[in-house]
Amino acid sequence: METQKTNKIVSFIGGKAGEYKINTISTISGSPIALCDFVSIKKETLSDSQRTNSTWVLQGFASNLRYTTRPEKNILDEKPSVLGISENKCLAMIPIKKNSAWWLLTQDERRQILEEDSKHIEIGFKYLATINRQLYHSRDLGEVFDFITWFEFSEENEAQFNELLSKLRSTKEWTFVEREVDIRMTRI
Ligand code: HEM
Repeated sequence: METQKTNKIVSFIGGKAGEYKINTISTISGSPIALCDFVSIKKETLSDSQRTNSTWVLQGFASNLRYTTRPEKNILDEKPSVLGISENKCLAMIPIKKNSAWWLLTQDERRQILEEDSKHIEIGFKYLATINRQLYHSRDLGEVFDFITWFEFSEENEAQFNELLSKLRSTKEWTFVEREVDIRMTRI
């Protein structure tokens, strides 16, 4: 019996047109990416001709959880993230690459750093009501970044989002981040 294959890849396209207007591109660590004015999202892998007019294309896919425990998942599920709400005009796309030391660790060692040492999930819990998010995995696609993170929130919650970022960036987990670019956009 033939089974239908689904392509879960999402392409984030930086260029001269798109649904999201870029306000700032800040390099937090590692090398920068090329500047451009818009981002558009396509739920597919792009052909060479589709890439022609783009400044850059980053690809990722939503995946299963790696580190979250059942009690943590229950808390996350109480306030599921919803993307695309028109009132949430502020958007952030933050591609991240972790270093080889991180990838040499075992799953339990990485969990130890991410949560027991750094409290990534516990810190995030405080922002569940205001910050909508989606994590995309890129490493297994051979991409230059390991993850693409995407966030949506209202203008009044922008300061909260920046507070969340500064907390996470001061953790042990972030000492393993070798490249991070913070792209802020407005929904148009
Ligand atoms: C709303 C607040 C947030 C919550 C509730 C949250 C929650 C989580 C959870 C539960 C995971 C683990 C997923 C798994 O089990 O595989 C995770 C992973 C991750 N989060 Fe967050 N997060 C938040 C904010 C952020 C922010 C602001 C960033 C970065 C800019 C970020 C970057 C990441 C990355 C890169 C991973 C993947 C880590 C890895 O697999 O090595 N998160 N987050």
